Amino acid sequence: MDLPTRVKLLEVGPRDGLQNEKSPVPAAVKVELVQRLQNAGFKEIEVTSFVSPKWVPQMADNAEVMAGITRQNGVRYSVLTPNLQGFEAAALSRPDEIVVFGAASEAFSQKNINCSIAQSIERFAPVVQAALAQGIAVRGAISCAVGCPYEGEIAPERVALVARLMHGIGVQHVGVADTIGVGTPLRVQRAMEAALSVYALDQVSGHFHDTYGMALANILASLEMGVWQFDTSVAGLGGCPYAKGATGNVASEDVVYMLHGMGIATGVDLDALIDAGKFISDFLQRAPNSRAAVALLNRRAQAQ
Ligand code: HMG
Ligand code: MG
Repeated sequence: MDLPTRVKLLEVGPRDGLQNEKSPVPAAVKVELVQRLQNAGFKEIEVTSFVSPKWVPQMADNAEVMAGITRQNGVRYSVLTPNLQGFEAAALSRPDEIVVFGAASEAFSQKNINCSIAQSIERFAPVVQAALAQGIAVRGAISCAVGCPYEGEIAPERVALVARLMHGIGVQHVGVADTIGVGTPLRVQRAMEAALSVYALDQVSGHFHDTYGMALANILASLEMGVWQFDTSVAGLGGCPYAKGATGNVASEDVVYMLHGMGIATGVDLDALIDAGKFISDFLQRAPNSRAAVALLNRRAQAQ
């Protein structure tokens, strides 16, 4: 079996990781988290989202966070934009990439962005056009690609349909997202196949929440198909406020530990990543939601 020798990780902690936190996290803490993540070697960081502050209060400081980060050459900073209003606000912050986020489930589309799948594509089309015209890359997220908190199991055909719709409006890359972490390896492979029936291998990534502890297995199953790009979240933070039962994303620390153990390069320094995870976990007053991070922190403590 030929696994990729190198994997690109997109760190979504500052956005997906923090969006679900109930207490406000100050912009300065978010800025420092981004700094620590880029110092750890991430070349792709999802910083914030330009969504309604009534819907997601935690992301209300989007412009402040974007203005506060110190950009490093070679690092791409992305933000979520659900509509033209969000894009116009985001564009002032000069993101390298924007993310339009749709769903393979009608019910989730309604709950998350207050419109149907068809309406969401109509809304995304001018956003994609405006972004590409300004030289900003465009990624699409396909939420609920294997299961939905409202509709249950989602057929791979739904993923292919949304991928086709996104492709039709010019979205350059799609992320196959298991929003509520219910996927198991074979089902995830079917969802990936559906996206790969529309997009090339280099234009598809995996975004797995770890609710049932399946995310690492799902990454491995995707690697077996040649998929080499994944979203991960420092300290396993994350969740979507409109996806009941969803818990954190797969922890970056666990993924880096697994990949390095398999001889697959990520460019991420695990020790610096552990420090970044400890920084944000200390702020949130909880232990990192990562088995590898906890084990390595314990080992550090014993070595002292
Ligand atoms: P809406 O209420 O239908 O919007 O919300 P509207 O166009 O009718 O406008 C209503 C009000 O919202 C107006 O303000 C607009 O100005 C304002 P008012 O006149 O009432 O004062 N508004 C905005 N304000 C700031 N930024 C904007 C914006 N748009 C309208 N962009 C909307 C529609 C999409 C805005 C709303 O449903 C929303 O913000 N949803 C975002 C939900 C969200 O962020 N979810 C989490 C991210 S997705 C995710 O986590 C999944 C992912 O990780 C992958 C996975 O795991 O599956 C990506
Ligand atoms: Mg997510």
